[in-house]
Amino acid sequence: MKVLVTSEPFYKAIAGRPPIGRAVDMLNAAGFEIVRSSTPDTPEIRAVVAGLERWDEESFRRFPNLKIIARYGVGYDAIDLAEAKKRGILVTNTRVTELSKSVAEGALLLTLAALRHLPDLAGDMRKGVWRVRTGVSLIGKTVGVLGFGAIGQSFARLLAGFKARILVCDPFVGQSTADKFCAIMVDRNTLLAESDVVSVHAPNTPENHHLVDEATLGMMKRGAILVNTSRGALVNEKALYNALLSGRLGGAGLDVWEAEPTPADNPLLTLDNVVCLPHVAGDTRESVAAMAECCAGQIIDALAGGIPQYALNL
Ligand code: GLV
Repeated sequence: MKVLVTSEPFYKAIAGRPPIGRAVDMLNAAGFEIVRSSTPDTPEIRAVVAGLERWDEESFRRFPNLKIIARYGVGYDAIDLAEAKKRGILVTNTRVTELSKSVAEGALLLTLAALRHLPDLAGDMRKGVWRVRTGVSLIGKTVGVLGFGAIGQSFARLLAGFKARILVCDPFVGQSTADKFCAIMVDRNTLLAESDVVSVHAPNTPENHHLVDEATLGMMKRGAILVNTSRGALVNEKALYNALLSGRLGGAGLDVWEAEPTPADNPLLTLDNVVCLPHVAGDTRESVAAMAECCAGQIIDALAGGIPQYALNL
């Protein structure tokens, strides 16, 4: 039996950079061979450890004996769940706490870096230029969390240490959940109007496409910071660029992009007040090992005829 690995971070981790934990041993002990390329043995491939690439009818057709797609990560917007179900293919993800904590920490990193002009100051220092710029403190500020699932909640937990006033907007979550995080549920307009920092943690669904667009940005507090660690499709980059250029927004922290890798000539990369990362908010030693072991466990369970814990399309 073969497992095809299309997830780049999982594959790198097999080589020990960073260590993948017990995942490879678990798969080998269960009789799986890990392969990187799908040819020439597509009929032998029973499982896939998937990255961010698209999985739809056309790709499923190439793998007649596929039983499970184990997404190495939490977002499954690139996978056609219904089509997979039709073909009897299970789809799972890795909703492990190590991942939500890591993404939340990544959002905090971007927030602080944007508030304190980190890339600009560090860039100057590298060039031997000693130039100060006064930052803004996060302590006691109002932070809006758009989307309050596991990652948004983890982010709120970190914000508690900053004594932040936390505003939350999520159509699927009620005040009783928000209460556990000393957060206040508000409507989207209130969140935008009152927050010094707005951090996006919503999934990439058709309804959320360009959730942050020109109109949304126009409702944000002048000089506020936008942070996105969810999916690039949620933010209209052109509108964001204009809002940053005009000074309407004070800065942004972006881990995810409308196209990935983002083109080198993306104008957002040229702005001093934008902190840019290559989709690594969730990428820590801790999350890598936990997600890899989680994928291995889901695959082993599925092929033994069981129901994997993180199945998405039962
Ligand atoms: C990464 O973006 C993930 O979906 O886990």
